[in-house]
Amino acid sequence: MANQYDKKYAQKTYYWGKRPSSFCLKVLELLPPDQPRKLIDIGCGEGRQAVFFARNGYEVTAFDLSPQGVDKTCKLADEAGVSVRAFEADMREYRLTETFDIVFCHGGVHYIPEKLRTAVLDNYKQFTTKGGLNVLSTFVKKPFIAKAPDAQSTAHKWVSGELFMHYHNWRLEFCTETIFDCMSSGVPHQHTMDLMIARKV
Ligand SMILES: C[S@@+](CC[C@H](N)C(=O)[O-])C[C@H]1O[C@@H](n2cnc3c(N)ncnc32)[C@H](O)[C@@H]1O
Repeated sequence: MANQYDKKYAQKTYYWGKRPSSFCLKVLELLPPDQPRKLIDIGCGEGRQAVFFARNGYEVTAFDLSPQGVDKTCKLADEAGVSVRAFEADMREYRLTETFDIVFCHGGVHYIPEKLRTAVLDNYKQFTTKGGLNVLSTFVKKPFIAKAPDAQSTAHKWVSGELFMHYHNWRLEFCTETIFDCMSSGVPHQHTMDLMIARKV
């Protein structure tokens, strides 16, 4: 199924760049690849974080709804000389059937519609090894932040703090909420994002 990122990812340049988000560094600190570690990057985009983790020694699987994103991920992995098992899948339908040490989804959790949230997150929790991490971030609604001028119909913002509640029975290693400026569409606006790293104990 096509999504708004297909066109952006069809360009030669990397829409999100090739550098990982600083969020990834926290993963390295909290569960370093000092032994074989399996990580899945859900909604991997063009692969900047998947490739970063593979370069750092994790065994990486990644998927995205966008075929162009998956192609770019494979290309970036080739360029870096690492292996990433990347494929096209829809997080609304795809469920984990093998266990990972780290389930990572940065900037993609808001594509899970409200009625599927518990089922999808319970699946991620179930297929995480004991001591492993779920590393997730999502856009959230705040009453004093206006809707973005280019808000997507496929995105379903969460309530502030809702993501953390799903992990009330895990150890929250890191959770924060941040408001940041954005210039997408050329009109200045703001977003609020909840970021969380939870450990299965
Ligand atoms: C904000 S981007 C983040 C990309 C990447 N995680 C990063 O940080 O560079 C969100 C990504 O989620 C993907 N996406 C949107 N809906 C999806 C779905 N239902 N299943 C899988 N991926 C989806 C988009 O194609 C896009 O690549």
